[in-house]
Amino acid sequence: MTSSPRSGSAGGEPRPAPRPPAGDPSDEQRGPAAQHPLPPLPYELSALEPVISAKTLSFHHGKHHKAYVDKTNELIAGTPFAELSLEEIVLRTAGDEHQTSLFDNAAQAWNHAFYWRCLRPIGHSDAIPATLARKIKDSFGDVGALKQQFAKAAIEQFGSGWAWLVSDGSQLRVCKTSNADDPLPQHLRPLLTIDVWEHAYYLDYQNRRPDHVHAVLDRLMNWEFAASNLA
Ligand code: FE2
Repeated sequence: MTSSPRSGSAGGEPRPAPRPPAGDPSDEQRGPAAQHPLPPLPYELSALEPVISAKTLSFHHGKHHKAYVDKTNELIAGTPFAELSLEEIVLRTAGDEHQTSLFDNAAQAWNHAFYWRCLRPIGHSDAIPATLARKIKDSFGDVGALKQQFAKAAIEQFGSGWAWLVSDGSQLRVCKTSNADDPLPQHLRPLLTIDVWEHAYYLDYQNRRPDHVHAVLDRLMNWEFAASNLA
């Protein structure tokens, strides 16, 4: 998915790209200078109920995620960024004070495309593939300790943001980011994320973010997707 930049000096010197995580599948489908599509949800709107309602999912994907994609397309139209994948745009614009709007929207477009794939429909297997289970044991001791750290990061993130399970190349760890920030510019490889912007849970849980976080961790995490991101 990540490739060498196809254009010149868009936003300064290119940074070395981290190993490509399985983020936005639309990046693989899109040709040069095409608009970024809103990737479809990988399940039905009701597939995550009762943890996340169809109404929340409909607004979150159809309004919020779509707005980030639309704004990204608007900002890159006619610029060298139009040649780049979302990941490349995020890496090129991170920390650039002249590109904060493009970074925020492109990162949110990437983060949401990744987030949908981190969730599994209710009733699907919660088994953790052996390769990932070994990594979790090495890094956290057991899955309970991982979930405890993940929940703490998601609950304690002040204001809008994301909690992540990432690989630093040798160990797994949990981190949190504010607003649109994600681990890509830190050269960390995302395996899973939980969206803790209020739009992700407020219709269903109001101010009870901890209840939402624990329900997502216990019932919706897609461990197969996380394991696929190790490869
Ligand atoms: Fe969101």
